[in-house]
Amino acid sequence: MKIAISGKGGVGKTTIMALLAAQLQKEGRDVLVIDADPSPHMAQTIGVENVERITPIADMKEMLIERSGKTPGSPFYQINPQVDDLMERFMLKHDGIRLMVLGAIQTGDGGCACPENNVLRRLLTKLLLGPSQVVLLDMEAGVEHLGRGTIAGADHLLIVVIPTQSSIRTAARIKKLAKDVGIPRISYVGNLIRDKDDEIFLTNALETPPIAFFPDSAAIRKAERDRLPITSTLPQVEESARTLLAALMNKG
Ligand SMILES: Nc1ncnc2c1ncn2[C@@H]1O[C@H](COP(=O)(O)OP(=O)(O)O)[C@@H](O)[C@H]1O
Ligand SMILES: [Mg+2]
Repeated sequence: MKIAISGKGGVGKTTIMALLAAQLQKEGRDVLVIDADPSPHMAQTIGVENVERITPIADMKEMLIERSGKTPGSPFYQINPQVDDLMERFMLKHDGIRLMVLGAIQTGDGGCACPENNVLRRLLTKLLLGPSQVVLLDMEAGVEHLGRGTIAGADHLLIVVIPTQSSIRTAARIKKLAKDVGIPRISYVGNLIRDKDDEIFLTNALETPPIAFFPDSAAIRKAERDRLPITSTLPQVEESARTLLAALMNKG
């Protein structure tokens, strides 16, 4: 399963992806997280210290693209053996979670980061996954990547919403675009939930109710301030993570 995430800036996309990754790992699944945010911080969020060790997949360029084949036993990607080891260069494993980083995209002029996005799109569409393998794609805020078709390979898009009107407006816009792009499944996830009223507000405001709600968590705030991996707070929000994962797996 390939799961992408979207939503207004700062609503908790990276946080929820990290927690979902930790929950998947805990439940014995193979998980690969691809950080496709132009200012990536998934690595810090899951507790990777030497971020500079990671070679951005934007550097792969043509190298792996045309050379797909089948390599039994190779997790996540079915690539010709000649490049299989090369893939390892672009991947890091931390606490059982594999991580790839797309690479900083310089679009100061508002231009298209097309080469990077092409790499990502082709990588995503070429990944052949076994039933226990899950790819999580963390992305920038906004909806441009939907337009560019970067996430056309995703099976499921999660749209994170918090209990504010502006977050809901953004979410509705994203959903429309995602439908146009043809992503098969689109679900909302509520974040920063303080009480039952927040849940009710979101449930009433959205076209379909969120498949999971994450609390506004003191543990997450503290971990972020103390520079601890957000994944370390999983025990405090595990019920939400478990609900999210169950919903993702059930409807599939
Ligand atoms: N459920 C939550 N409880 C408390 N703080 C949260 C929660 N979700 C996210 N945050 C905090 O909000 C900030 C933005 O979260 P982040 O995941 O980086 O958002 P995004 O990836 O959507 O830009 C971070 O400081 C994060 O620690
Ligand atoms: Mg983020």
